[in-house]
Order: sequence, then C-alpha cells, then structure tokens
Amino acid sequence: MTHPLLVKNNLTAQQPMNRQEPAKILITDDDSLVRDAVAKILEMFGHQVSPTGSGEEALEVLTEDFDLIILDINMPGMDGFDTIKEINKRGYDIPVLFLTGAGSMEYAIKAINLGAYDFIQKPIEDIDLFNVKINRAIEKRMFVIKEKTYTEDLEAEVAAKTKELAEKNKLLQQYSHHLEVASVNTIITLQTALEEKDQYTAGHTNRVTHYAMLIGRSMGLAQEELAILDRACQLHDVGKLVIDVSCIQKPGPLTDEEWQLVRKHPVIGENIIKPLSFLEREGAIVRHHHERLDGKGYPDGLGGDELDLLTKIVTVADSYDAMTSQRSYRINLNREDAVTELRSCIDSQFDGEVVEHFASVLEEDSTLSQNSMQELQENGFSELFTT
Ligand SMILES: [Fe+2]
Repeated sequence: MTHPLLVKNNLTAQQPMNRQEPAKILITDDDSLVRDAVAKILEMFGHQVSPTGSGEEALEVLTEDFDLIILDINMPGMDGFDTIKEINKRGYDIPVLFLTGAGSMEYAIKAINLGAYDFIQKPIEDIDLFNVKINRAIEKRMFVIKEKTYTEDLEAEVAAKTKELAEKNKLLQQYSHHLEVASVNTIITLQTALEEKDQYTAGHTNRVTHYAMLIGRSMGLAQEELAILDRACQLHDVGKLVIDVSCIQKPGPLTDEEWQLVRKHPVIGENIIKPLSFLEREGAIVRHHHERLDGKGYPDGLGGDELDLLTKIVTVADSYDAMTSQRSYRINLNREDAVTELRSCIDSQFDGEVVEHFASVLEEDSTLSQNSMQELQENGFSELFTT
C-alpha cells in the first residue's frame, strides 16, 4: 500500500533552496542494506549522512546541528516511535521522516500524532519523489532555523533598544533634575542676597531650614517629605524679593500700611515659583507659612487639619528663628524662653506635637550653639537639595 503522500512524479533532483552547505542527515535503520542504500542516495545528492543502527545509537549522536532525521519504525530495542518520543523531549525541532515498509493507517496516525513530518516508503523506487521529500523536510528545517534566528535577533534588538532607551531616560531624568536644581538655586541665591543685605535677617532661611529638618527627622518623615520640606524652607520667604526692601529692613515696628504690604509675601512667593510645576507642594507651603492653627493667620485663614504637617513644621521653625534672632528694634529671646513662648501658643498658633519634637531636639542638639549657628549662617547647610 502506498502512503497518500507518496504520489509518483517526474521531478528532477534538486538541492533545497538557498542552501550553501550540505544538509546533515541522521539515518537510523537496523537493516544495514537499507541504511547504506539510503545513505548512498543521500550522499549522491550532496548531503552529509550519519548512519546509525538503533534508536539508542541515534540518540547518542544526535545534536541540534542535524537538519533531518530518518527513522525506521520496526527496530529491536527502541523502535522508531520510542525514539521520536525521546527526540521530541530535546526540543530541537528537527523534522523526522519515517522509513516504512508495508504501510498501515494505524502506523501513519501514530507517527503523525508523535510529530512525524513525512513518510518514505522502502525500498525506494522513485528517486525523484524521495529527493523532493528530503528537500522539503530540509527546507522546513531551514525555515525553523531562520525563524529562530530572526526571533533571537529581534529579542536581542528589542533588549538593546530597551537598554538604550532606559539609559537615555536616565540621562533625561538627570538633566531634568539638574535643571530643577538650577532653577531653585537661582531663586534661593536671589533670596539669600536679599537677606544678606540686612544684618538682622542674614542667615534666616538657612536657620529655618535647619530647624525644620531637625523637626522632620525627629518626627520620622520619609526622605521624599524631607526633600520637600527642605526646598519649601529654602523658598519660604522668596515673596519678599518683590517687597520694598526699606519696609523689610525698617528699624522698629511696621505701620499698618507696611504690614499690609509684608503680609502679601506668602502669596507673591507662591506665584514666583508657580511656573516650576515640580514645586507644587512647596508652593502651597510657601503660601501658608504664616497661617495659624486657630485660623487667624494669613493669607487664607486656614486652620487645624487644613494645614499639612510640613506647613506646621515650617511655621514653628520660622517663628522660633524670628524669636531668637536679633532685631534692630527688640532683644532676642534665648532658647528656653523661645520654647516657652512656642508652648504657650500650642493649639492657637502651633501644632503641639511639632513643638514638643522641636523642644526635645533642641535639648539634644548641641550644634545649635551660637558658634555653630554662626558657621551655618556663613556656609549654608541645605543637606538634601544638592545635585
Ligand atoms: Fe515669611
């Protein structure tokens, strides 16, 4: 009985398309006459043949380098079906042709279910048809290899592009970060220059930042929150840049009219940094750093839970520095008196938890001696907001 695929034809022998090297073919048949005859035909067509006499031997020599496997079905020991099962486990995806004598539908179905690519009837009577089947199987193998190589190349290319993109993204983030830092530092420099023009306000921003960071760390704030707190403190009085300096530096208490002007600096400050969208939270803190817990502050009269923790910290740090810094028109308070003053304003002006954290770190922090503060004033010490 002839297998349906083995139709008689008149095709001449051809090598597989675009094949540069001989195909490597493994042939396994326990009948040496058949094995040698098939091997000779294959060699005649220019293929490189590795003949083996059993399934076990075939598995020993089989590598991924082969392009085609020709398997006899009936063999002692491992038969063709057992052998193809073992071959399948290796995942080489090499086409397997079964050599079959008198064909049977049962064999054919079993072979196809096991992944056989085609059948070759023995003895080989039609060389052209045999060659067509061999070449078709080799071309299938070439297609598999080409597809695999293409997939591997594609994966490698995607991986390389992904890496390149990640590196560019990182550079972009660094560039963006540098730009952000540069923008903020420019503003801070202007603000510091303004402060330095007045001996009574010099170093105020740096001191407020330092106090606020002490409180923030004492309260266990996350690093991201500390960074925001740091920037907000550095920028908190930036609105004073556009207020008449003579008003700020004026010796003695301000008139009502002057107070109206000074009270605009939180809103002006927020407006100055508003174009820098990455400073949104800092902007809100700048706007509200003169609010009070009882809602009697300015500019919005917010109170209680309307004020976030960072704002509450800045108000305490800012007020403490105002109390302890010398002004031309009044004597500054010492640390103890200032803490007493802060405590007396708990719940009306300040958050109690923030004040108590500050009081405890002031006790512990020996760096707040007059000498240390002088040093801070001269060198600055914004610890987090650096490039
Ligand atoms: Fe202020």
